[in-house]
Amino acid sequence: MFITLEGPDGSGKTQQIQLLSEFLQSKGYKVFFSREPGGTEIGDKIRTILMDLHNTTMHPRTETLLFCASRAQIVEQVVKPKLQEGYIVILDRYADSTMAYQGYGHGNDLKMIRELLSFATGGLKPDLTILLDLDPEIGLNRRKRGGGEWNRLDAYQLELHKRVRAGYLKMAAQEPERWRIISADQPIEVVQSDIQRIILDYLE
Ligand code: TYD
Repeated sequence: MFITLEGPDGSGKTQQIQLLSEFLQSKGYKVFFSREPGGTEIGDKIRTILMDLHNTTMHPRTETLLFCASRAQIVEQVVKPKLQEGYIVILDRYADSTMAYQGYGHGNDLKMIRELLSFATGGLKPDLTILLDLDPEIGLNRRKRGGGEWNRLDAYQLELHKRVRAGYLKMAAQEPERWRIISADQPIEVVQSDIQRIILDYLE
């Protein structure tokens, strides 16, 4: 089973994935989790370029291709082999992030991005995608207050983050059998138990 978590910056995906992974392991499942961009040696190098606050001249198309390059690598090197070995694979962001940020957010052509993503992933789609939905203002404030290092991508304008959220909600509405939406504006334990319930329902 291939699960992805999506959501705006500061929605708490990383922490939730750690808790979820412990929970599923305690139930006897083999779990592997990672994050994007990154998750492989090559992907981590690409991540450094993407996050670097000095890279102020990076063009949106360059950015899109770098995200896709990192993804192509993790799919082939990590995700596919782990799925074949029977792991539940959980990714902190996947192709939908590129649709949301580089597509809806930056206004790149959605059809072209979809084709690019299909090339980058070799067509591998998640079985289940959980959207931790959050007002971008709340998310960005959380980030500023210390939820990780402030990076080049956080520094984009609030308007972009609003378009990203709207994009996520639209994608979720278009493919309701794959997406589940949880409000991230709740205590960590409540969000976690919502996620656990969704995954257990699916596994059963
Ligand atoms: P990260 O520090 O991992 O933030 P978060 O904890 O919110 O996931 O930074 C990832 C950033 O990269 C985040 O701002 C979203 C952005 N991003 C894209 O714009 N497109 C993508 O395809 C991916 C995977 C991430």
